[in-house]
Amino acid sequence: MINILITEFIDPEALKILSKDFNVIYKKDIWENSDYLKKEINKFEGIIVRNKTNLNQSILEKAENLKYIGRLGVGLDNIDTEYCKKNNIFVQPATGMNADSVAEYVISSSLSLLKKTKLINAKTQNGQWPRTSIATNELKGKILGLIGFGDIAKKVLKLINAFEVTTISFDPFITSQEMEEHNVKKVTFENILSLADIISIHVPLNNETKYLFDKKTFQKMNNKPIIINSSRGGIINETDILEAYKNNYISGFALDVYEHEPVNKIFLKNITNDMNCILSPHIAGVTEESNTRVSEFIMNKTNEFFSNFKF
Ligand SMILES: NC(=O)c1ccc[n+]([C@@H]2O[C@H](COP(=O)([O-])OP(=O)(O)OC[C@H]3O[C@@H](n4cnc5c(N)ncnc54)[C@H](O)[C@@H]3O)[C@@H](O)[C@H]2O)c1
Repeated sequence: MINILITEFIDPEALKILSKDFNVIYKKDIWENSDYLKKEINKFEGIIVRNKTNLNQSILEKAENLKYIGRLGVGLDNIDTEYCKKNNIFVQPATGMNADSVAEYVISSSLSLLKKTKLINAKTQNGQWPRTSIATNELKGKILGLIGFGDIAKKVLKLINAFEVTTISFDPFITSQEMEEHNVKKVTFENILSLADIISIHVPLNNETKYLFDKKTFQKMNNKPIIINSSRGGIINETDILEAYKNNYISGFALDVYEHEPVNKIFLKNITNDMNCILSPHIAGVTEESNTRVSEFIMNKTNEFFSNFKF
């Protein structure tokens, strides 16, 4: 019998897809209990996680029977993929399955920040009439700078094209030819900082991208852009983005991801209702629709993996 542990929430309907031959243990909050994981992980051939379960080397070393990790999402920064490679543990992300949800989040945040929806709503609801006191902007005609030109960035591009936006992108791993095929100009990171009105971040968190946005980079922004981070916390230095906003280097920001999740209280203390910013709890990719797609995809891939695996 193949034993599979699921450590975070999953669409319950999708669970039915898993082969009846598997012994499935579903504990949606067990990711919080590293003692349980350390003690029990050696009993499982497969484990299915989201982004909260920390599968670092010290846990994986105890997973003597582990052959497969299913990731209900795409970022792999909570999994020691190098260790998995060396030890023949196959890692299956749900590539592309939540990209539409994230792309819609980027469009909705861009519009809300440009239209200052939060600020205008608060004042109007308070009995004020901020018809001319708060200036708002169109998305039409703006320059969008995409940091990273992978799956999600391409979905954003597709949606934002309806607004007649010019798009430039910084991604050293994508050729200018590929970008041109999408009508996007490949530029340097510095170009994005100086040209963009909207900067949307779509890269993995790694040594190169950690604090890619810090005090120095914000100070190079010419057009007071709005910043949207739906990728990973830690790519933006949270102290520095607050300072950049207060010093008028940027005109707004939307953050879905944070260096520590839930977001730390010191950061929140600095957020006031009169700031043009939107905070959300890492839900850009988690809609009902994407949850169904992601869960079904990983369940099918799990069946496929173990039906072909030679023990
Ligand atoms: N907030 C959410 O709910 C949510 C949901 C899904 C994905 N994500 C995150 O969104 C991000 C993008 O996901 P994706 O599916 O588009 O990934 P992807 O792998 O398809 O694309 C990432 C792109 O980043 C580029 N890149 C890598 N290092 C770079 C660097 N140093 N500078 C510039 N570009 C670099 C790669 O070449 C690639 O084109 C990931 O961090 C992922 O974890 C968040």
